[in-house]
Amino acid sequence: MNLAASYLGLDLPSPLVASAGPMTQTADRVKRLAEAGVGAIVLPSLFEEQIRAEADRDERLAEVGIDSFGEATSYLPDPGASLWPRQYLSLIERAVAAAAVPVIASLNGSTAGGWTDYARAMQDAGAAAIELNVYYLSGDLPSPSLVSGRDAEQRYIDVLTAVKAAVSIPVAVKLSPYFSSLGEMALRLDRAGADGLILFNRFMQTDIDPATLTISTGFKLSSPAEATLPRSWIARLRGQLGGSLAASTGVETADDVAAYLLAGADVVMTTSALLRHGPGHATALLDGLTAWMRGKEFGSLAEFRGMLAAAVGTQEAYGRRGYLSAVERATQAYAPG
Ligand SMILES: Cc1cc2nc3c(=O)[nH]c(=O)nc-3n(C[C@H](O)[C@H](O)[C@H](O)COP(=O)(O)O)c2cc1C
Repeated sequence: MNLAASYLGLDLPSPLVASAGPMTQTADRVKRLAEAGVGAIVLPSLFEEQIRAEADRDERLAEVGIDSFGEATSYLPDPGASLWPRQYLSLIERAVAAAAVPVIASLNGSTAGGWTDYARAMQDAGAAAIELNVYYLSGDLPSPSLVSGRDAEQRYIDVLTAVKAAVSIPVAVKLSPYFSSLGEMALRLDRAGADGLILFNRFMQTDIDPATLTISTGFKLSSPAEATLPRSWIARLRGQLGGSLAASTGVETADDVAAYLLAGADVVMTTSALLRHGPGHATALLDGLTAWMRGKEFGSLAEFRGMLAAAVGTQEAYGRRGYLSAVERATQAYAPG
């Protein structure tokens, strides 16, 4: 069975990509994922704040003339479980050496500024592409300077443009679904040079526990029900962009992978399922995909990728007409007798 895929102009042995998260944080796990069949690996994000903090530290050290590494590290905030810039570059080098598939570095920030030049160091360390996660929470209240929707969107374009100027490798943008006009935003990013879009990023959800009177922040693992939103947008955007489309969110089984490919994704990413079941789950997903393709008599991805995009991407299914008939059907199904 031919599972070869193309993403960001890169040739991949399979369409399954291990997305950013703890599973891709060590070279050893990256190696296991590649052996399990993933077509590419996205490393966890390096954050704008970390790059800025390390640059500030270097500046202060240069002023006081400290060059011993042990002393120097005490000038950085506690790194916790995340990787700092120099460790990150070392991870790229080790991951590239360990895996025979493209290794994609991830940058996470929200302002255009000197930190975006770090993309160049990632390229030099061997990254095959950059994934850009513009995690920007607009509308922080109260604020003396509320940001308009257009200005919030412009940040994405500005950060993308700055990163594109720093590198020659492909740059993909990981998007959130929270735009007033997502289709237009996708087209703007595509025209601004994004080599691909990843649909979607998941925002941190802050919650409140009335029992303990505490606030929790954090990431929960996803469920397959969350895949319908990215899947419908992939179907809508299929054929509209020059760049690639990657699906992210809610992959648990091989059917979830097949559904994303039918909607028009070039690659399908997974984080939660790999964390739940381990790196070997990649093999199970790909074996399941192969069995499904055999059952449907498809010999390659090209034979069915995007096959249902036209059908689900129309006004019929997702516009107001589709909405109206869905409400009618649901009313018939659920109305109390
Ligand atoms: C624990 C955890 C850490 C994550 N870290 C990152 C990250 O560093 N950068 C990023 O862009 N996405 C990160 N993500 C998001 C995932 O890459 C992915 O987009 C999201 O979990 C949806 O995919 P899934 O349903 O397969 O989990 C993280 C997700 C989890 C659960």
